[in-house]
Amino acid sequence: MANLLEVRDLKTHFPILKGVLQRRAGAVRAVDGVNLTIGRGQWVGLVGESGCGKTTLGKTILRLIPPTSGHIYFNAPPDIIGQIAALERSTDSRRQLQALRREHDLAVFSGKKLKALRRQMQLVHQDPYTSLNPRMKIRDIIAEPLTVHGLMRGKQATERVAEILRQVGLPEQHMSRFPHQFSGGQRQRIAIARALATNPDFVVLDEPTSSLDVSVQAQILDLLEDLRHSQNLTYLYITHNLTVAESVCDTIVVMYLGKIVEIGKPLDIFHDPRHPYTQALVLSTPIPDPTTKRARIILPGEVPSPANPPPGCRFHPRCSRATEECRVTEPPLEAKESSRLFACWHPLP
Ligand SMILES: Nc1ncnc2c1ncn2[C@@H]1O[C@H](COP(=O)(O)OP(=O)(O)OP(=O)(O)O)[C@@H](O)[C@H]1O
Ligand SMILES: [Mg+2]
Repeated sequence: MANLLEVRDLKTHFPILKGVLQRRAGAVRAVDGVNLTIGRGQWVGLVGESGCGKTTLGKTILRLIPPTSGHIYFNAPPDIIGQIAALERSTDSRRQLQALRREHDLAVFSGKKLKALRRQMQLVHQDPYTSLNPRMKIRDIIAEPLTVHGLMRGKQATERVAEILRQVGLPEQHMSRFPHQFSGGQRQRIAIARALATNPDFVVLDEPTSSLDVSVQAQILDLLEDLRHSQNLTYLYITHNLTVAESVCDTIVVMYLGKIVEIGKPLDIFHDPRHPYTQALVLSTPIPDPTTKRARIILPGEVPSPANPPPGCRFHPRCSRATEECRVTEPPLEAKESSRLFACWHPLP
C-alpha cells in the first residue's frame, strides 16, 4: 500500500504573550515532534486525553494552523521520500535537500501551491450546528469550495451539489433549504458533503459524531465507511469514543502531551497495549460533559502543562513503571514489534 501522508518531526507551538507589550513568555507545545505515516485508504484513529494536541495536529497537517517546524509530505512519490531521507542522513547536499523540500514539503508551501493542495485535504468539525453558515442555502454551502477553488460554477456546480447530496443520503431537493431546517445528523451529512465537494483524498474528521445521538452516530459512521470505499478516501479520525475507534479504524494512534506514544492495530492497542499510557486510556471510562453530548476521556492524576512538559518520558510523573531512566531520557517512538510502534523504556509485557 502506498503512503498518502508522511509527517516528520512536526511541531506546533503557540506563543504565550505577557504584559502590555505582549512579550513572548513561553510557548504551549501543543504538537511537539510528531512522526506519522498514513497509508492510502486507511482509516486512522487518533485518541488521547483532552488537550493532548489532537485537533492541533489535524489542523496543522491541513495547514489550517501554521507549523512551527517539521515536514509534511502529502501524495509525494515514494522515490522522492526515499531521496529526502537519504539526503537527511548525509551532511552535504543541503541545497539539494532544500530544493526537494520546497517542491514537496507541504509545511513550507504558500500561495497557489498551498491552495491547490487544500482542495485535496478537508476537515469535518465536531459540531454541525456551528460549522454551517445559517444564512446560506445548502446549495451554496456545498458549492462554495467549488467556486473558491475555481473548479465549477452555475449549473455545473448545482449538478455536482445534487450528485454529492445523493452520495451522502440526502434528496437533492434539500439544496434550496437552510441549515436550521435539518436535524443534527442531516447537518453532519451536509458538512461531509461540503468537505467532499472538491473530491479530496484525505479528510480529518474531528469528533464528527460526538454531538449526535447514538443511533444517528452509527448512521454517520456507516456513511463515512461507504464514502471511504466509493470515493477512495483516507481518514484521520479524532475521537474520545474508544469503542467506536476500535470498530471502525485500521490503525490507532495514541497521543500524550504533544507526542505520539503508541501506534498499532486496534486489537493490539485495546487488548494488549505496550505503553502504560495506552493502558490507562483503555481502562478509563469517558466522563459525559453535561453541556454537550460529548464524553471526555479524563484520567486520574494531573496532566502536566504542555507549556512546561516533564523531562524524559512525558508520562513519567503519572506512570507506575517509571524509573530514573524515564525521568531523564526521552524514549523514541520505535517499531519494536511487527506492525506496532511505541515510545517506552519499560513497556508492558
Ligand atoms: N490557538 C491556540 N492558542 C493557544 N493555545 C492553544 C490554541 N489551540 C490549542 N491550544 C492549546 O494546545 C493544547 C492542545 O489543544 P488541542 O485542542 O489540540 O487538544 P485536543 O487533543 O484536540 O483536545 P480535546 O480532546 O479537548 O479536543 C491545549 O493545551 C490547548 O489549550
Ligand atoms: Mg480537539
